[in-house]
Amino acid sequence: MPLFESRITSALQQRREQGLLRTLSPVHGGNTTQIKVAKQSFTNFSSNDYLGLANHDALKATWKTAVDRYGIGSAASPMVTGFSYAHHELQDTLCDWLGFEQAVLFNSGFSANQAVLFALLEKSDCIYQDKLNHASLIEAGLLSPATQFRFPHNNTERLHDLIERNGAGLVVTEGVFSMDGDRAPLANIQAQCQKQNCWLMVDDAHGIGVLGKEGKGSCEESLIKPQLLMVTFGKALGVHGAAVLCSSSTAEYLRQYARNFVYSTAMLPAQAVVVTKAIELTRTQQWRRDQLSELQHTYSSLLGDLPGYIDTQTPIKPYLAGSTDRAMSLACYLRQQGLWATAIRPPTVAQGKARIRVTLSANHTVEEVSKLAQSLKQFEYQHAKEGG
Ligand SMILES: Cc1ncc(COP(=O)(O)O)c(C=O)c1O
Repeated sequence: MPLFESRITSALQQRREQGLLRTLSPVHGGNTTQIKVAKQSFTNFSSNDYLGLANHDALKATWKTAVDRYGIGSAASPMVTGFSYAHHELQDTLCDWLGFEQAVLFNSGFSANQAVLFALLEKSDCIYQDKLNHASLIEAGLLSPATQFRFPHNNTERLHDLIERNGAGLVVTEGVFSMDGDRAPLANIQAQCQKQNCWLMVDDAHGIGVLGKEGKGSCEESLIKPQLLMVTFGKALGVHGAAVLCSSSTAEYLRQYARNFVYSTAMLPAQAVVVTKAIELTRTQQWRRDQLSELQHTYSSLLGDLPGYIDTQTPIKPYLAGSTDRAMSLACYLRQQGLWATAIRPPTVAQGKARIRVTLSANHTVEEVSKLAQSLKQFEYQHAKEGG
């Protein structure tokens, strides 16, 4: 068998045997708190639409109007003719909201993270990353010419020791960790960076919109300002795309040297218009964050005693199952109850840490969260009875 065919066949076979093959399930209609998969209806506890904006009527109307004005595509990369007044306005809105000199727009958070690390790092540099950072960051650090060190999750002492031994560099952490829902000790990390002459980059994909005053995110809540802040538009803001916020000179550097920016078709202009509108809703509709807090309280008070419960201060609520088989049978059980909550398995999380990643949205009701809690309890009860 030719090289690539045999490689593909054996890799897929391995995933299948380990019970780790992922499947694509097409969702019918919009991705809201109610979804239809294979003609069955579910309450959706697996989206990152924390503020419930992904299907918002005002945003849909904004998109339609923007298409009439700007057309469908951006038709070129930003430095050619792909950059429009819609992009310009989004950049200004981001800077005003988050208090930075400049914002550089990217087509996705994955691309933004890779763009920054590839553009910034040279052979003589050190990069220090939290062990649980997103795949886009860890991969870019590994592939960059710099030397990468990974510090144990949220462990600022180990970070300090690593920098002490290897020298100043770029420290990268998430604001809210995507699979665990916990927050980084940003004030301590920034203090460490200042003492040891490092730059700090925060990926706040899951904190932006959800935490802080006007949803300004993890950094505002921790009263810090990193040199580089990456925010995504595809989670709490309900749209798609990303931006890196930074100083004017860093932005100019990224626009010159970041290949993901220079050599990629610009974000759709209508999308830029919608993200600008989504930011306005995020800033002004505090009730969405209040509703999330109430739901988080309901979830914790109903499930706090269960063995899989993990306490978090964010709408990401991992429910630990342990083995891959147990996570899969829990997800299957929840589906039978009309609840969609995806099992997250290795290699996305460590072996033995398979989980159900429950996420709450401002569009959920207390009754829906109570039903989820009741179903998780029933599963645990049945498993305990069966000795599983
Ligand atoms: C922490 C983190 N950073 C970056 C990304 C990538 O963002 P995007 O989905 O916009 O590519 C994700 C997405 O899952 C994420 O969780």
